[in-house]
Amino acid sequence: MDWFPSRDGELYAEQVPVTHIAEQFGTPAYIYSRKGFEEGYKAYKQALDGWPHLICYAVKANSNLAVLNVLAKLGAGFDIVSVGELERVIAAGGEASKVVFSGVGKQRHEIRRALELGIYCFNIESEVELERIQEEAEAMGKVASVSVRVNPDVDAQTHPYISTGLKDNKFGIDIKAAPAVYKRAAELPNIEVVGVDCHIGSQLTTKEPFIDALDRLLLLADQLREMGIILKHLDIGGGLGIAYEAHEHPPTPADYLGQVRERLAANEHHSHLEIVVEPGRSIAAQAGMLVTQVELIKQSDHKAFTVVDAAMNDFLRPSIYSAWHGIEPVVADSQKEELLCDVVGPICETGDFLGKDRKLKVTEGDLLAVRSAGAYGFGMSSNYNSRCRPAEIMVDGNQVHLVRRREKLTDQWADEMLLPEG
Ligand code: LLP
Repeated sequence: MDWFPSRDGELYAEQVPVTHIAEQFGTPAYIYSRKGFEEGYKAYKQALDGWPHLICYAVKANSNLAVLNVLAKLGAGFDIVSVGELERVIAAGGEASKVVFSGVGKQRHEIRRALELGIYCFNIESEVELERIQEEAEAMGKVASVSVRVNPDVDAQTHPYISTGLKDNKFGIDIKAAPAVYKRAAELPNIEVVGVDCHIGSQLTTKEPFIDALDRLLLLADQLREMGIILKHLDIGGGLGIAYEAHEHPPTPADYLGQVRERLAANEHHSHLEIVVEPGRSIAAQAGMLVTQVELIKQSDHKAFTVVDAAMNDFLRPSIYSAWHGIEPVVADSQKEELLCDVVGPICETGDFLGKDRKLKVTEGDLLAVRSAGAYGFGMSSNYNSRCRPAEIMVDGNQVHLVRRREKLTDQWADEMLLPEG
């Protein structure tokens, strides 16, 4: 389902023409579809219907309060990696009791706040962290639920920067070393072991690496059972990919989780396990796009550049992962001449591009839509080159809501100060 359909050659966000939104709020702007997020979440809900589960949306994918609120209203849990994300969840009406806390470097103050709010569990990534959580929980007179994030050493076959499950990645605890960590955790008075966790990477477009990792986790669960440690849940992380290009066909949540359920149901020792998932991209990416205006067309001897008003500070994925995103005119005009061009921003970096070698029928002043930008879009934006971060807008049917106003120049230096005179 496309939440940004084309009608008579004109792009809409749900029921609203994108041109109207751009006129009202300016460009560049992120435009989200409420339905897109909701349906993204519901695809997981349906896939897990009838099996005990917790869907923890990975906040890093898109942490706008309105997005978190829309998901919280549907009963979502959240996967967080910082106290900032935790406070966002709470500010957006999410429940702490449905939060899992991931990340290799949780600080003591973050651990304390999570304990204070009563999160569902910590996904621990090292023994040092386990001891730290024990100390903080003891000092607060609390018991912390933990799950050990193991590194199953499987190749996610995705971009190296977003692959996390190989043994030379910084994430998780080597699966072979995990039983000793569980043994220690079980001995600690302020720790309750509740699960096992893994996240092997992002933008996976086949099921095999997931199933491989799952099988390794289940072997570990068996080993732990023999040691007298019975797990309540199995957290299989996030990572399900989306179709950035039309020829890509990643598994659907139903397809992927259907196979996970089959695996668990097949063994009486596994069939009690609650399934926890941490999807980010597969819920958020297709629910958003970035709309930008063509500033000018620059033609050199051997190349044409469509220079737009969005840049790598607004949308970083093409620059750092060479990610491909669909780029299309908001209003199609077949009369225009087709141009083979790179779509670039005004930033002083060769890596500042949104797309390369695109065939576009564009002229100065046109609006372009950069698709599949709802995940890892605004969240990775910055003020590089002293550019103000874009506005964020959420469309709900025929209603348009500003969910983050465009940054002002004075916002950028509001927290900076000059040296004293003299
Ligand atoms: N759980 C953990 C522990 C994670 O580290 C991540 C993502 C997720 C869940 C969600 O993964 P997803 O379902 O979104 O694949 N900036 C990169 C993606 C980095 C992902 C980092 N971890 C990008 O733009 O592709």
